[in-house]
Amino acid sequence: MDVSRREFLKLSTAIAGAMVLPACTLNTARQTQDGYYYELTAEPATAELVPGYQTDVLGFSGQIPAPTIRCRQGEKVTIRFTNKLNEPTTIHWHGLRIPIEMDGVPFLSQPPIMPGETFVYEFTPPDAGTFWYHPHMNSVVQLGMGLVGAIVVEEAEPVQFDAEQVMLLKHWHLDEQGRWKQLMVPRLSARMGTPGEWGTVNGKHEPTYELPQHAMTRLRLANVDNTITYPIAVEGIQAWIVAIDGNPVREPMKLEQHKIGPGMRLDLAVEAPAAGQAFQVVQMKGRFAFPMATFRSVGSDLVPGKLIPSIPLNPIPAPDLANAEVRHFVFEWEGAVTPASANGKTVPKFWLMNKRAWEGMSKANIPAPLASLEQGKTYIFDLKNVTQYHHPIHLHGHTFTVLEMDGKPVEPFHTDTVLLGKNGHAKAAFVADNPGRWMYHCHVIEHMKTGLMGYIEVA
Ligand code: C2O
Ligand code: CU
Ligand code: CU
Repeated sequence: MDVSRREFLKLSTAIAGAMVLPACTLNTARQTQDGYYYELTAEPATAELVPGYQTDVLGFSGQIPAPTIRCRQGEKVTIRFTNKLNEPTTIHWHGLRIPIEMDGVPFLSQPPIMPGETFVYEFTPPDAGTFWYHPHMNSVVQLGMGLVGAIVVEEAEPVQFDAEQVMLLKHWHLDEQGRWKQLMVPRLSARMGTPGEWGTVNGKHEPTYELPQHAMTRLRLANVDNTITYPIAVEGIQAWIVAIDGNPVREPMKLEQHKIGPGMRLDLAVEAPAAGQAFQVVQMKGRFAFPMATFRSVGSDLVPGKLIPSIPLNPIPAPDLANAEVRHFVFEWEGAVTPASANGKTVPKFWLMNKRAWEGMSKANIPAPLASLEQGKTYIFDLKNVTQYHHPIHLHGHTFTVLEMDGKPVEPFHTDTVLLGKNGHAKAAFVADNPGRWMYHCHVIEHMKTGLMGYIEVA
C-alpha cells in the first residue's frame, strides 16, 4: 500500500459516514450507471500480521484485510472474481438474500471456479447492513489463511453517521514469529474447535483508530474467525446495539455484553468522546476484558449530544406463524474418529444433524437434503443443541426471525445465524421464499467440516 492510499484510508475512516461514492476504498471499484462494479481476486500473498515478520497468507486481491465491498440496497453490484489460488474455490456472500445462482456454493449453486478462471457475481442486495464474504471450499484453509472480507450494503435512504469503522475480528493460527501452526487439530475439532492465538482486528493486533471528537460513529463488527465466539463489550463509553447480524433492531439497545459466534455481526453506535479521550472494544473472558481495538478522539467541530440515527428495518418477509410448520433439528456429538482418518486423508466425523453427518459432495454425488420446504410457506425451525459446545447455526438465502431462546420468548430479532449455547435451544421462523438448495450448517468451520452441515431445499 502506498502512502497516499494509506492517508486516504485514514481520511476515509473519518468521513466514511458521509461518503457519496461507497466504492472508493478499492481502486478497482467503479460506480457505473448500472450499479457498483468490483474486480476481486483470491491469491497467495504475504502480510505482516505479527509485527516484524512476514507470513504467507491467502488474500482477497492479495490484501489483508480484504477490500471492503460497498454497495447499496436495491442497486446492482457486479463482482468480477478471478481465482488466482492453486485450488478451486467459490465465493459466498454471507447473509445476503440473493438468488441461488449467486450463492457461491460449489455444485449446489455453481461449478467450482478452477485456478485461473473468472466468475462474475452479480446481484441486487434486498437488505442493508454489515455482511461478509468468504470462499465455500476448503474452508479450514481458505478462510483460516485470510480469505475473509466485509460487504457493506448501504441503506437505500442514506443513514447519517459522522464516522464508521468496519472491524473484522479474527485470530490467526500463528506463533510469535508469524509461523503457521495447525489450523485444525482433530481432538479440538471434536470439541469447540481449534482456536488461533494471534488476535487481530482488520489484520492488526490491538489497532488504534482515530475518531473526530463527538462523532456519532457506527462500528461494524464481523466475526470472521473460524472458531472463536467473542463476547463483546465496550469500555470507557456507553455503546448501543443498532443491528444484529446485519439487521437493524427496532430500538437501539444498551450494550452490556453481546456474544457473536463465527459468521455473526454486530453494529454498534457510539458517540466519540472529547478529543484526547479513548474507549476500547473488548473481548470478555469471564470477568476479564481483553482489548481488541482502541478508539482515540481528535479535535473536530462536532458537538456532543447527537441522537443515534434510526436505521430502517430490512424488508424481511413476516412469518405467518398461525400457519407455520415446525421442523426439528437436533445437533449431536458422535465423536468417532474413523481409523481411515489416522493418515489424515479422510476427514473425521464428529457431529450429527438429525443423526446425519455431512459426507461432502461432488458433481456426481449430491447427498439428499436435510429438509424439503414448500416455497412461500412459513417454517419454524426448532433447534436443539445436545452438546457441551456452542454452535452458530447458519442458513443461506433466508433470514430467520428468532422467537425463542432457551425456552424463553425473546423480542423477535432477525438473523442469518442463530447462536446455540451449550445445550441451547432456539425457535426461529422464516418464510421459505427463495427457491434453491441452501446450505445449512454450523459456522464453526471445523464443525461443519466434521459433520455439522447439510442443505435445505426450497421448491
Ligand atoms: Cu458464511 Cu455457508 O457460510
Ligand atoms: Cu452464508
Ligand atoms: Cu458447531
